[in-house]
Amino acid sequence: MSNTVVVGTQWGDEGKGKVVDLLTARADLVVRFQGGNNAGHTLVVNGQQYIFHLIPSGILYEDKKCLIGNGVVVDPEVLLEEIEDLKKAGIEVTPKRLSLSDKAHLIMPYHRAIDLAREDAKGKGRIGTTGRGIGPCYEDKMARTGVRVVDLTEPETLEEKIRTNLKEKNFYLTKFFDAEALDAQPILDQYLGMAEKLGIFITDVSVELEQALNANKKILFEGAQGTHLDVDHGTYPFVTSSNPLSGAACAGAGIGPNQLHHVVGIVKAYTTRVGAGPFVTELTDEIGDCIQERGKEFGATTGRRRRCGWLDMVVVKDSVRLNGLDRLAITKLDGRTGLEKLNICVSYELEGERVNHRQASLKRQALCSPVYKEMPGWQEDISQARDISQLPQQARAYVEAIEELAGIPISIISVGAGREATIMVQNPF
Ligand code: GDP
Ligand code: IMO
Ligand code: MG
Repeated sequence: MSNTVVVGTQWGDEGKGKVVDLLTARADLVVRFQGGNNAGHTLVVNGQQYIFHLIPSGILYEDKKCLIGNGVVVDPEVLLEEIEDLKKAGIEVTPKRLSLSDKAHLIMPYHRAIDLAREDAKGKGRIGTTGRGIGPCYEDKMARTGVRVVDLTEPETLEEKIRTNLKEKNFYLTKFFDAEALDAQPILDQYLGMAEKLGIFITDVSVELEQALNANKKILFEGAQGTHLDVDHGTYPFVTSSNPLSGAACAGAGIGPNQLHHVVGIVKAYTTRVGAGPFVTELTDEIGDCIQERGKEFGATTGRRRRCGWLDMVVVKDSVRLNGLDRLAITKLDGRTGLEKLNICVSYELEGERVNHRQASLKRQALCSPVYKEMPGWQEDISQARDISQLPQQARAYVEAIEELAGIPISIISVGAGREATIMVQNPF
């Protein structure tokens, strides 16, 4: 029995959706514990692509339970859209298949308005958020003024919170940003309407997980974003507003640390990031364009072009420590095919000295230049490889170099977007 946490080791979009879908086969429950619909997790099953922003990536399995934990910020409109889209695809999402924590916070229209107004006002200095209201929603949670899922079941509480909050939010929106004020009544009507549809899914997720643990069920925790977007340990302030680290699975799902048995870190075989912020190995030349095109590196949430660069193992090694990683899953190894030489960043040079960790100061981080280990590339198509022995020698050497630099073994190598395009070295369950 081993409950497993899957987290991204870089700046998101490492392929968590694919890996979670894959591992769900051996799990009983799949839980999202942080983030919101800033996430875009892609699954390709039987040639069909699905992108999930809120619903856990295990939802395609009929007999598995998916749960949205209290640590997630939920835009109810997006959740209902996802349920509706699944219905169109022939998948009926019932309470047997999905639970929504009564303690999760709701993204409100004023959160989105503030997110957008703030980014606009920042101009060139903008973070490049997804504009989904994630930051402002987490702010209200911490300020203890948030609206929670449970409030959907109490119309009076909901109305009072919306009216009270809007007084402050409208003052901020109109006086500080010169933006439009929002009316309480349409928001209340909309949320009460959505409450009717979502009510059946609302539960105490922590208690549900306890019952599952007592019944010896296996739980898979699905992280969103990536370690270096972590609000504490990431490239602050160019981060998201939650903790995407494995440790956050406890508070964000309502379980104790003794229930986390195994942590898998997803490493894309190169580095990408959407939005602004430090990126030491970024390639702004034709190699970067080539990686971007070959990997179809466009954001699954906003459609933005992802910035691309060489694999940065300083970033990955920081993730090994921050998440207590047991194993790595390498994704998009096929995206490395066709390059003559491959660089792996093994450390940074800062003011004439070698450093092995990302710097807290943005100024110091900007002074870091990458120190590369150069490796030979390969030209063969590897997308059909299902065993490590079927990889060209250079691809094996590349994977081994990652393993050695990270200091932990690899359990999965992904060579294509489809569920089947996988080399399973060791299943964590
Ligand atoms: P996530 O946010 O970590 O779940 O990742 P995204 O879904 O945002 O981005 C990963 C993209 O790469 C998606 O389009 C996946 O379908 C795709 N993908 C995942 N693994 C592989 C792989 O090994 N090879 C290729 N070519 N594509 C992959
Ligand atoms: P998944 O789960 C990649 C980035 C945004 C921006 C910063 C803050 O698909 O890996 P936010 O809207 O969260 O306030 O934006 O974080 N970001 C992501 N980048 N993948 C994600 O999720 C992301 N979620 C947020 O681009 O730079
Ligand atoms: Mg994504």
